[in-house]
Amino acid sequence: MNEAETTAIRVEQTQQSRLPQVDFNNLKFGQILSDHMLVAEYANGHWADVSIVPYGNLSLSPATSALHYGQAIFEGMKAYKFADGTVSVFRPDKNNERFNKSALRLEMPEVPEELFIGGLKTLLDLDRDWVPNTDGASLYIRPFMFGTEAALGVHPSDSYKFIIITGPVGAYYNKPLRLKVETHFTRAVEGGVGFSKNAGNYALSLHPTRLAQEEGFDQLMWTDAIEHKYVEEAGTANLVFRVGDTIITPSADTILHGITRRTIVEIARHWGYQVEERKVSVKELVDGIENGSVTEAFAAGTAATLTPITELGYEGKRYILSDPTTREFSNKVLQYLNDLRYGRIEDEFGWNLIV
Ligand code: PLP
Ligand code: COI
Repeated sequence: MNEAETTAIRVEQTQQSRLPQVDFNNLKFGQILSDHMLVAEYANGHWADVSIVPYGNLSLSPATSALHYGQAIFEGMKAYKFADGTVSVFRPDKNNERFNKSALRLEMPEVPEELFIGGLKTLLDLDRDWVPNTDGASLYIRPFMFGTEAALGVHPSDSYKFIIITGPVGAYYNKPLRLKVETHFTRAVEGGVGFSKNAGNYALSLHPTRLAQEEGFDQLMWTDAIEHKYVEEAGTANLVFRVGDTIITPSADTILHGITRRTIVEIARHWGYQVEERKVSVKELVDGIENGSVTEAFAAGTAATLTPITELGYEGKRYILSDPTTREFSNKVLQYLNDLRYGRIEDEFGWNLIV
């Protein structure tokens, strides 16, 4: 994408903002979408036709390749409003990087920074009044791309749409999590697409998750595909545990490399905690819960932020974790992240992108 194309974002503003109808005191996740969206078209080997238009339906051929063969990837980020009205996005460069890794794996084109970040800044500038200014609320940002070629042969699409939609959100999980350790179904296997944020990874999770919910759990804790012996991640977030003054997080190519998790690892190291990114066996985890050495456990993600895990189900047995209010590291790191993201403390790592 060259400079001429970058600057040529066509902007068509809505005639009638939906903002007055939004109840910012009662935000649910992903149900309200802001006035505008960014849409870019890829064809003939390059991105063009970048426009910001009123949020609305798309018109697609029933033969659209993504609907059949799943060339569909997405990202999740959040924008926050400081007390003085400044709007800031948290580490969008990392999402751009991960988006392009997902794209590469699914044989889709890269989205350059000028479009991903530059386009986002223009969109947020227009919809800045949609960024909530209440604590705990933010503007969720959902960039996504899918193959649009109208043809049924199995091959990479020759055309793509890249779209960014946004919407004000509150908490994704409004209570601590009870996770079932999944030992039958598999999310991802080495050499597969577990590290990429593609639509299929979420589709395959729906059935096993519903079964777990019928047993009284909120979400799954996925395990490795080969032995179901090692913990991987939750359905919508990574996992972090504390044992003594060590922070432990499962690491494998089969899991999504979360930006929240990475951020927490960097903060923990900066604060002098020992951090281990490694394989964690289910046995190590449940033994640690039973003997009290695992003092904290939480799910970490953009939507999930930091959600405490209070219960684990494994092989028919329930393991109960500590009261979340007593968890020193989890509460300290969440407070720090909130202070940083809402601009209440110095941005010592340079993670806030001011719009
Ligand atoms: N794992 C899965 C499956 C997710 O959907 C998410 C959410 O994006 C994460 C982990 C956490 O990633 P991040 O912190 O970048 O949002
Ligand atoms: C996110 O945290 O951004 C996610 O994508 C998780 C979920 C809403 C799919």
